[in-house]
Amino acid sequence: MKQQIRDLLTELDALLVAHFYQRDEIVEMADLTGDSLELARKASASEKSKIIFCGVGFMGQSVKILAPTKQVFMPRIACCSMARMIDSDYFDQSIALLKSYGITEIFPITYINSNAEVKAKVAELEGVVCTSSNAAKILDFALKSNKKIFFLPDSCLGQNLASQNGLKSAVLGLDSVEAIKEAQVICYNGFCSVHQLFTPQDIDFYRAKFPDILIAVHPECQPSVVQKADFVGSTSQIIQYVQSLDEAQKVAVGTEFNLVNRLRKPINGIQNTFVLSSTKPECPTMNETTLQDVLKCLQAIQKGESYNEILLDSKIAKSAKKALDKMLQLS
Ligand code: 13P
Ligand code: SF4
Repeated sequence: MKQQIRDLLTELDALLVAHFYQRDEIVEMADLTGDSLELARKASASEKSKIIFCGVGFMGQSVKILAPTKQVFMPRIACCSMARMIDSDYFDQSIALLKSYGITEIFPITYINSNAEVKAKVAELEGVVCTSSNAAKILDFALKSNKKIFFLPDSCLGQNLASQNGLKSAVLGLDSVEAIKEAQVICYNGFCSVHQLFTPQDIDFYRAKFPDILIAVHPECQPSVVQKADFVGSTSQIIQYVQSLDEAQKVAVGTEFNLVNRLRKPINGIQNTFVLSSTKPECPTMNETTLQDVLKCLQAIQKGESYNEILLDSKIAKSAKKALDKMLQLS
């Protein structure tokens, strides 16, 4: 099957792209792997006319927005549950709520984990997209506007960014109106169900067991977890961090399990890399795509049949591109 996939990729002028949370079998075959920023940047810049995207919907959409002439296919329709927590109506309602509190000067930053319609809405208000690897730079840029930052949809990433910069944050719908008015960063109340699994108690558990262990987490984890960690970074940054450690250094990692399990092999039978949770942190939709799906997708394209191709309204895609292009310029 692997050879069939390779032959079809060549015949169809297609690039196989995979996010780090995909199964090992997909990551091993992919022409391009990366975090969400690297995938958006490199897949859209590739010379191939077709992208076979193994990941979740917003990632494939980002490539289509940035490179509208390419055809982008998803071997399996997979959604990010956080991205589905906000749509353009919820965005409008949130802005209306902020205005009803007297907050009229608003700079929206949307995490790339959001759909094209939301990115287009953000662009209409002159806002920007960010990812977990460039969020600090984008926040710096946004702060220069002297407007209130509205960070969506991930309340954890928004609060973590604010506290790293010594700024006050509050969560819309959770915190009081007074707290919202005082905050410099107002967060939408979305979250990642996978990264919510990690708790400060998990960190205490590992530190009690291995006193010199290091803790590395993704910034989608809760602020109480991020504050206790030794390192916080995007999926690529976590990989670089762990690979830069001495091989005997123990590390517990708070992100999706497929990525963590392939970080480092045991040495002399001793495991030095741990998943920071007793519950398996699985992103269910990311984990569904199989090589069989990739093959089926390529065979359908070869026959000229439609197969989970990402198609976007051109007006929405054009607006969303402004907010994504601005992000790429700034990062
Ligand atoms: P990265 O940008 O770190 O790849 O994160 C994407 C994501 O969805 C993490 O849950
Ligand atoms: Fe979305 Fe969380 Fe899965 Fe990342 S891990 S794709 S944020 S549901």
